[in-house]
Parts: sequence; structure tokens; C-alpha cells
Amino acid sequence: MVILFLLLINLYYSQIATNEYLGRDSYFDKSQKAALLSGHASNKTGRIKRLPQSIIIGARKCGTRALLKFLGINNRIRVVDSEVHFFDKPERYQRGLDWYRDQMVESQSDEITIEKSPSYFVTNGVADKVASMNNSIKLIVILRDPIVRLISDFSQIVANKIESSADNETTKLDIDEAWHEAAKLFKQHLFRRDGSLKDTWRAVQMGMYSKYLEKWLNVFPMSQLYFVDGERLIREPHKELQLVEHFLNLKPMIGPQDFVFDQRKGFYCIAIKQNAGHEHVIKGSSQETSRANAKCLSKHKGRRHITVDKETIDRLRQFYAPYNEYLFSLIGKQFDWSGQSQ
Ligand code: A3P
Repeated sequence: MVILFLLLINLYYSQIATNEYLGRDSYFDKSQKAALLSGHASNKTGRIKRLPQSIIIGARKCGTRALLKFLGINNRIRVVDSEVHFFDKPERYQRGLDWYRDQMVESQSDEITIEKSPSYFVTNGVADKVASMNNSIKLIVILRDPIVRLISDFSQIVANKIESSADNETTKLDIDEAWHEAAKLFKQHLFRRDGSLKDTWRAVQMGMYSKYLEKWLNVFPMSQLYFVDGERLIREPHKELQLVEHFLNLKPMIGPQDFVFDQRKGFYCIAIKQNAGHEHVIKGSSQETSRANAKCLSKHKGRRHITVDKETIDRLRQFYAPYNEYLFSLIGKQFDWSGQSQ
């Protein structure tokens, strides 16, 4: 059974490695763009669907869902709950801006609509397409220690496989054994036979943030990008969120009172308060977990990770160090990614 499980994980990885979209196709005409940016299907409440004024473009497994959800606490921000993947999936992009706008939530003219699609950051050609829609759009990138990102990414696959096998009597796995085997498989993926680190593995590449950022900076000025420290969003969410509110030129509304630390989950959740005006955020999706006084992200966020030995962590730390340094020099700030967290 464990072998079957390992095969499934392998198969998944070979699929996502070939999934990247490299194409670049036709852009939108000016009149279509103008109509969509201002919104033309006005209704009596003044709420209409508009193209987003801001997008969380990545990075995958860095806290994009928490960031989106928490930003919705500010009542001037309207968040799109599902990932739209308009700019990175050719079949969606072909549907045009009208289709894209239709995926948005309704908003008023003084509100900001935000969508998040984490693979925008690493997909070739997306920056040009976004600029072609709106070259003054505000872009938000949340990043975390690339080692933690990698482990989180791999652990997600493991958890999904374990979860799907749990429903099936014939493939039922011993859970601890499966996690243990997955940790071995991780090392097999990470190192070549000669012991060198496999930097061609897509999951490893995704943490070479500076490589992708350079491409975005060829299209957008730095002033239109904001970088959220994903590690700090976990520890002190309101502080990171206040900086994002500032970047979006919004009156600060999010504070420590909006969060409750949930011991069971080990993460901050949104505090449920009467008449706080958070109904749209609190409602959320059925996957999220409601506690007596808080709304937490779903069980898929903040889950178990594979255990990785110190030697492997050290090798990864050495590997990512120059990419991190270059990233910090590009963005003009330093994140503390020296921790041992997994
Ligand atoms: P893990 O589930 O591996 O711990 P994304 O939404 O981009 O997929 O990122 C998922 C990660 O967000 C989670 O990874 C978790 O560590 C992190 N995260 C940050 N704040 C969180 C919160 N308040 N609740 C749950 N997960 C949070």
C-alpha cells in the first residue's frame, strides 16, 4: 500500500512539472478594457462587479489564503473567495475580460476588489497579461522561508493522498508509516544520486523567488508591488495586515482585536464579534472551521508536515541563501528566515 501511495505522489509531481504555461496571446482592446475597469452594469445599490484593483499573485503555500481572508476584515476590501487562475490558464484567459470580471464579487466604487491566484507569480507571461489589463494595478506577494514553503508544498501532496486513501478500505494506510515513508521520498526527490541538490525540481525552484521577481520587475515598477512576510503573518497577523492596508491607501481598520489565537489549530483565527461588520468574511466557505468565538481557516491550512533532518535543512539553507540575499536586495527589506521552523 505504501508503495502505491509513493507512486501516486511521484505521478502528481511529474504532472505539475509539465503544467507550466509558457504562451503569450492576444491582449484586450482599449474600449473593452475601459468599460470593464469602470464597470458598466450598474444597479440600484451601486454595487457592481469590477476588475480587481489588486491581486495577490503568490507565492504558493506561503499563506495566500490567510492573507486574502484576513484582508477581508477591512470593510473597504472585497475578496474573491475562489482562485480565478485567469492569467495562468490559457483556456480561462481565452474567455476574455468579461468572463474575468464576472468571477469578481460586487463592490462599490470606493471599495477594492482583490483576487488571489498563487501560481501567477511563477508563471511565464502572466506579468505582461496583467499589465495589459491594468498597468497601474497593485500587486501583493506573500513569501515565507523557501524551505518551509517546500516542505509545506510536499506535505500537502502527502496529506491529500493519505486523506483520499482513508476513505478506501483497500488502500487504507498506516498514517504514521505513510508520513515516515513520505519523508524518505522527499529526500529522494531532493538529492541526485551524486548527492547534489536537485535544483531542477519545480518545487525547489518555486522558492528561488528572486528569479521570478526579476521578470515581474521588467514589467511593473517596484512601487506597485508589496511583499508580505508570511512568517510574520502567522505570528502577528494584524501588523502585516496594517502594512498592506497602507499599501492599498486604505484607512487602517484591522487590529489585534480582530484575531484570536486558536490553541488547537496553532494559528490565529478571525475573532467573531457581534456587529463587527465582518459578516462577509465570517460567512466564508463551508470548509472553514467555526469555534465559539472565532473563524479559522480550513483543516487544509496549517497541517502536519513531514519531518526533515537537520542536515537536509542545512543543505537547503545553504542552497537558498544567495537567492534570499538577492531577493532582499531587490525588495529593499530583510525577512528573518533563519528559524528552524517547518
Ligand atoms: P501549512 O498548511 O503547510 O502549514 P496557502 O494558503 O498559500 O496555501 O498557504 C498555506 C499556509 O498558510 C499554511 O501552510 C500555513 O502555515 C499558513 N498560514 C498562515 N497563517 C495561517 C492561519 N492563520 N491559519 C492557517 N494557516 C495559516
